[in-house]
Order: sequence, then structure tokens, then C-alpha cells
Amino acid sequence: MPYINQNFLNDLPNQIDIVDLISKRLTLKKMGSGYRGPCPFHGGKNNNFSVDSQKQLYHCFKCGESGGAIKFIEKYENASFVEAVETIANEFGLKIEYDKSGKPADPSLERYRALSEKVSEFYQQQLKSSLAKTKAVNYAKERGISGEIARRFGLGFATPGNKDLLTNFENTEQDVTDLKALGLVKTGEYGDYDFFHDRLMFPIQNSRGNVIAFGGRAFDKNVKAKYLNSQESPIFFKSKELYGLHHARKYSRTMDYILVVEGYMDVVALHEEGITKVVATLGTATSPDHLQILARTTKTIVFCFDGDDAGRSAAWKALKIALPIIKSGLLIKFLFLPDGEDPDTLVKKESASNFEKRIEKAQTLSKFLFDHIKAKAEVDFNTIEGKTLFLEKVSILITQVTYDVYQQQLIEGVAQEVGQSVEQVQIVFDRQAENIQMQAPVEMDYEPSMPDFEGDYSDFSPAPKENKSVKASMAKMISLLLNYPSLSDGTVEVRVRNIEKSEVLLELVRSAEIDEDITQEDLIKPFKSKQGVYKRLQELCVLTPHLSENQARDEFQSALNTAEKSQASAKVKSSISNANTLEAQRLVMEGIQKSKVKNKCSIK
Ligand code: UTP
Ligand code: MN
Repeated sequence: MPYINQNFLNDLPNQIDIVDLISKRLTLKKMGSGYRGPCPFHGGKNNNFSVDSQKQLYHCFKCGESGGAIKFIEKYENASFVEAVETIANEFGLKIEYDKSGKPADPSLERYRALSEKVSEFYQQQLKSSLAKTKAVNYAKERGISGEIARRFGLGFATPGNKDLLTNFENTEQDVTDLKALGLVKTGEYGDYDFFHDRLMFPIQNSRGNVIAFGGRAFDKNVKAKYLNSQESPIFFKSKELYGLHHARKYSRTMDYILVVEGYMDVVALHEEGITKVVATLGTATSPDHLQILARTTKTIVFCFDGDDAGRSAAWKALKIALPIIKSGLLIKFLFLPDGEDPDTLVKKESASNFEKRIEKAQTLSKFLFDHIKAKAEVDFNTIEGKTLFLEKVSILITQVTYDVYQQQLIEGVAQEVGQSVEQVQIVFDRQAENIQMQAPVEMDYEPSMPDFEGDYSDFSPAPKENKSVKASMAKMISLLLNYPSLSDGTVEVRVRNIEKSEVLLELVRSAEIDEDITQEDLIKPFKSKQGVYKRLQELCVLTPHLSENQARDEFQSALNTAEKSQASAKVKSSISNANTLEAQRLVMEGIQKSKVKNKCSIK
């Protein structure tokens, strides 16, 4: 694995000023010999966060978060190590030095980013000067997009021809290969063609403002897919990006709140009306990563949804993801729009200031939580059964809140709702929390911590009935290993061998162990004869976020741990259900108890 030159990294603190770096992002005041401000990591209003220009370090006296420039950018901007170094180098005009081999950390990533930028320029150019531009220009006008806002978002035009992009880049073979890797050029029965044609193009920028993907809006009502998004790629992971975040930071004076809407057009239309603190998810549900990013940027997240059933159910999903993430100082609110309206249509009908009033009056999380449960319970809330059911349901959710103060507030809120004392509610709540701890882990609504491993990986994982998490861990380990062959060693091999149906992974581990520098192509070659497996392995070669070797090692270890644990618990479950006499079941349970005690001893 090529690295950024260690000497360059060691010298980085001397080349930059952490105070400049952080002041661009937070408001710092000179205090004593250093600088102070509110901590972006745990929130709160006090100036607990200090930046020391001599030591080139930051430290929060409240939450203990501390580190240097790179760590700050990694955490604050949710960037990988290499991205953080790149951001810093860019801001201070430094040229990154790579290791002896002279190769950049991953040359393809830089190429992909540069090419995405060029593609975006190409689409913008087409909107200005292509023969067919009238159609696109008229569409944008009809939807109320001004020239200024179109430029702000770099809107472009993918012409109706289906090879115009390809033709523009076809002189360079590498570009064509890369366009395919980014999903902008596809290969079909009749050769290569542009993925986007006859669409208004929205470049998707990451929080640092680099173009990393595209969304395209069809002009005609009859087109099957109203919007198309470019596929995920090594530089684009949907669940980690928010459309408009870069623009929100750039065009807003403060970030006292951020409105989360559903569509590209909603973001653009709100900017048109001067409402700039707005982002959109990219055709996916809000993910935990999205929430973490938002929580670092603002104190108040306002989710905006349609007032219809679909909107309410999307909001409910967002609420469930938000519960464990709520921390000190973070407020989460819900804004439901009148039926049939979205921010784009509504802000055009009423004034910007009216729309802002709606944002101010958004429901608190607790109100939405209580109302939703009451509405769904389908029992009369004024009866004892109704209240009991309400208490049970609400407690299950409240146990997921890890921030004590907020948990307590919610319990107090519940007590008020049901007209009982806080102590009484606390008893129900504690019992519920105990029950939950005794049960197997609750399935989360949102799983992928890695890119969407959609599709079928049953080819190299246990039968579908068996534990889903073994499957997911398997795919994750394979993907990591394909990208970081040096992760494999003797101990990994032994552990993998003990996992059932791990043949594919095991073979990969063995090949990688023999040759640490083995190419992906050589790694997957032995599977060429098994079509399904081979195709899936090819996919998994691409589907890994850019990680440092250490991060990759951590991810791999945690996936391996998960697989082992899940397999163990699946075995226990099946031995219990296979024991058909009561006596046999008792013996199995005794065995489990004993092994638990043994494990406890051996840990100590
Ligand atoms: P909506 O269907 O709510 O459309 O999709 P919209 O944002 O109001 O779009 P306009 O106003 O008709 O132009 C919301 C978001 O869901 C994703 C897109 O990201 C879109 O912005 N989406 C929607 C798709 O990815 N594909 C689709 O076919 C439709
Ligand atoms: Mn719309």
C-alpha cells in the first residue's frame, strides 16, 4: 500500500497553523496564550474548546476530545485520513509528498475527482452552448431557477445524444476507463454510451466542494426514472453525503439550524428564496452518518417531510436513527408540510419569511414521538390499556437515548402525557430497559456501516436462514481484504477457518498471506469459473471506502468478531431448539451457563 511520506506528515505541523485551519470553521476568541471557543464535538455553549498555536493541538476540557490538525479535519468533516491531509495541504498550498515509490496514496482517487470536475464543466458548458440547450434553459426557467443560482450549484445539461460525453473524453483511454468506474459511461449491447442523457444535471459536491457524483432530472413527465443518480464509486458513498452541505456552509452566516429536505430541487428552490441552511439526502433515507455530520455542523436539525403517510413514516425512521445520536446541546425537530406540498412548491406559493416561520415552529422530537405512538397504537389513549401500551412502546424507544439528561427529560414528558408521577414511569422504564438487555440485540432499522452491499452474497456466506450479520460481516471482510491484502496473517486464517461456509474468504486470506502485494485481479482469478461468485467479488473490489491501513485493520477485526459472535449465538439457538425433551433443554442451558462463567474467568 503506497503511503503519504512520513517525513511530510511529521513536518506538516510546521508548515501550517492550526488556529487558521480551525478559525475558518469555528468562531475562536483569543484567551490567555491560546484560543477558545465552543466545542464542535460535544456541543455546548461554553468556551471549553482550546486551540494551542504553539503546540499545534486542540483540546476540549469538557469532553476530552483532542488532537492535531489532521485529526480535527478527519472528525469535523468526516474525512478519511488521506482526505484530511489533502484538505489541509490544499488550504495551505502545500504539495503532498508520497512514499519512496513516488506513487500517490491512491492515484485513482485523485484522477476520479479531477475527472468529475471536468465532467461537471462539460455539462455546464452544454447548458450554455449546445444546440439543444433551449429545452434545458426553458425547463430551468419554468422551475424558477435564476442564472445566479444555476451557477452557484453548477447546474448543467446532459444532451439528448447518447454519446456526447463519451466523445468529449474519448481521446484519453484512461478517462474512458475512469468514466466507466464512475458509472458515467456504460457498456451495452451496442457499445459504450452515456449514462445521463436528456437531463438537467446537478453535480453532487462533498462537504469540501469537490464534485464527486451527479444527479440528473428528466425533462419529460413520461420518462420512467424522474431522477437518476450516478452509482456509488470509490469517491461517492450516498449514505455519507448530503447535497448542498458545502453551499449551506458557504452561503450562510450562521449555522444555527439546518433543514433536511428530500430533493435537489428543494435545496435549489430554497436558495433561490434566500434560505440557504438546507441540505438534501440523495434519494436515500437519513443515515447515522448523515446525522453525525449534521450534528457536527449545527445545534438544531430540522427534518422536513411531506405531511402524508409516506412523509410521516420517513420521519419516523429518521427519529429512530436520531435517538442514540442525540447529545448535549443538539435539538432535533420535525417540520411537516401540508399534504401534496414540498419545500420547492410551498416556498414559491408563500413568502420566504412564512416558510421560515414554519421552520421556527417545527415540532420537537418528543412531541412527534408521543403523537406518533398514540396514533399508531390504535387503542383509546384514555383507557388503562391505551396508557399501558403507550408506556411500553415509548419506553422501548427511550432506552435507546444514550444522553442521560435528554432521557430524563423524555421520561418526565411521558409522565405528563399519561398523568402519572415520574417515579411510576421510571419503574416501567427500568423494567423495560432490563428486558431489552436480556434479549438478543434489537435489529436496527439502518444497518450498513459499509457501502450498500445490496444483492446476493449467499454464494459465500451461510444459508439465508442463518444469521444476517454473519453474511454482512463476510461481505465486509472480503471487500476489505480485496483492497488491503496485507490484512491477512496466520491468526486471521485460523479464525476464518472456524467460521462455517467461509471458503471464499479463506481462499482469499491464504492467497494474500503468500503474497502481500498481490493484485485484486490475481486474488479473484481462482474464482473465474464460478460466475456468480466472481461477479460479486468484482463488485466488492470497488465497494470499499478509502481507509487508512489501520482503519481497515480495525474494521476487519470488528467484522471478524461480529461473525464469530453471531455464529456462536446461532449455534446456541439451534441447540436449544433441537433439544426436544425438557431435560435435554435444561442440559443445554446448563452448558451455556457454565461456558459463560468460564469465559468470564478467562477474560479476567
Ligand atoms: P421527489 O419525487 O420528491 O421529487 O424525490 P422532487 O424532489 O419533488 O423533484 P421534482 O420537484 O419533481 O423535480 C425526492 C428525491 O428523491 C430522489 C432524488 O434525489 C429526488 O431529489 N429520487 C426521486 C430519485 O433518486 N429517483 C427518482 O426517480 C425520484
Ligand atoms: Mn418537487
